[in-house]
Amino acid sequence: MENGNGREQWQTQLGFVLAAIGSAIGLGNIWRFSYMAYSNGGGAFLIPYLFALFTAGIPLLILEFALGHERMGSAPLACTRVKRGWEWLGWWAVTLVMFGIELYYVVIIAWCVCYFFLSFSLGWGADPNAYFFKHFLALSKSAGQIGVIRTPILAALIAVWVINWGIVYRGVGKGLEKANKIFMPLLFIFTAILVFWSLTLPGALDGIKAYLTPNLSKIMEPKVWIDAYSQIFFTLSLGFGIMIAYASYLPGKSDLTKNAVITAGVNCGYSLFAGFAVFSVLGFMAASQGKSIADVVSQSIGLAFVAYPKAVSMMPGGPLFGAIFFLCLVMAGISSSISIMEAFVSAIVDKFNVGRKMTVSVVSAIGVIGSLIFTTQAGLYWLDIADHFLTHYGIVVVGILEAIMVGWFFDTKHLRRYINKNSTMRLGAWWDVTVKFVVPLVLGIILLGDISKEVQKPYGGYGWTPVVLIGLNWVLSTVIAGFLFASRPWKDKCPLEVPRENQED
Ligand code: PHE
Repeated sequence: MENGNGREQWQTQLGFVLAAIGSAIGLGNIWRFSYMAYSNGGGAFLIPYLFALFTAGIPLLILEFALGHERMGSAPLACTRVKRGWEWLGWWAVTLVMFGIELYYVVIIAWCVCYFFLSFSLGWGADPNAYFFKHFLALSKSAGQIGVIRTPILAALIAVWVINWGIVYRGVGKGLEKANKIFMPLLFIFTAILVFWSLTLPGALDGIKAYLTPNLSKIMEPKVWIDAYSQIFFTLSLGFGIMIAYASYLPGKSDLTKNAVITAGVNCGYSLFAGFAVFSVLGFMAASQGKSIADVVSQSIGLAFVAYPKAVSMMPGGPLFGAIFFLCLVMAGISSSISIMEAFVSAIVDKFNVGRKMTVSVVSAIGVIGSLIFTTQAGLYWLDIADHFLTHYGIVVVGILEAIMVGWFFDTKHLRRYINKNSTMRLGAWWDVTVKFVVPLVLGIILLGDISKEVQKPYGGYGWTPVVLIGLNWVLSTVIAGFLFASRPWKDKCPLEVPRENQED
């Protein structure tokens, strides 16, 4: 479906909201949030988390929705239409996410695909830790020792890329919207099964207690607040131009504020809910091994590929539980990875006036080649370093610049009036203040804190060489790519003026 300007459109508002939720809910909701809550004061973490949600998450989500919708374009087009000379920022955001984060995000999804199949026979054996690092990844000694490509991972990776390609190739309504309309309800049902199932395991309640018991003294620590803000940004997929592109496909009369509140609410509710499955299982494991929760808890990769498999091997019906768990990760992952592709593809289509299908195919082919490095025996090191730099210095810097661009070089009042025109919840002047001052200030503090830690010693004990060569270079290359894309001329189909119906009445 297209609108009067020849732009593709969502078939329904629900389709849009589900797609935005699909982007927001990803691997991070399942394995990042619960650990963060646990280590940052349990139930008390909800205070900084909700604070971050309301002071930065929702206002910036509304901003990205409004930018995409009112300026009617992908991130680079929307940025140019806000202020000439800022186009590079849009390009940087979409390049950083597509040729940075996406390249390893899909590899993690590929691992989950492999583990989905392994679940049925508990194929990780008696020692899931050794299996994952020594056998499955065949991890080398350092980032410089690339070794060989792991073929099972490569096979799963190609399958994941084909699925991504197939969905984005079919376009907004028939591809992204349809896929999310299938994935999201399934994901909610399967997650609910996991939660209720895991709550019946012996020891589950101790796990939940560890997860949620509030430790109020923790919330006086600055680190807890910084974690809360970074988690909110990552989880809402902000600062990547994704929500801008998605909102640009909305029909004229759309309630942006309501959509943003629903997206954020469902995403954060899902995190909290999924945390029950994570911690019930950890509680069960602690109880069956006679250990304390603190001894069995782990995060991210360690949680999904070591702790969970261990628990799955011990519980009745484990193979099915494991399969459902990894299927959830795959679905949550794919609905996020297609949103990343769309952010970049829509930028290319807007700027160069080339066909979507051709663009998606080329981008996917480059994507497969780009992710190969993460399937090698040094893949995990590369992944860890790239992830650290791209997420810490990507999202945060784009977030700051985006807020400055709109807050200081554009009329927030105009944008707010535009948002309120079709909205049931009215945004007050607080929103302008948040965009102009709060977001740049808070993110600026996080950034300074990160940088000061960064220069003291090389990240993760890797040594300066890999950190600079992989991490820093990767971020810098995406900035340069952003400027290069921005330096190319616009194809005439895409007038730089905003479509008339969106201008001030
Ligand atoms: N929001 C997703 C998650 O929590 C991550 C994501 C990052 C998605 C970047 C898209 C882009 O896992």
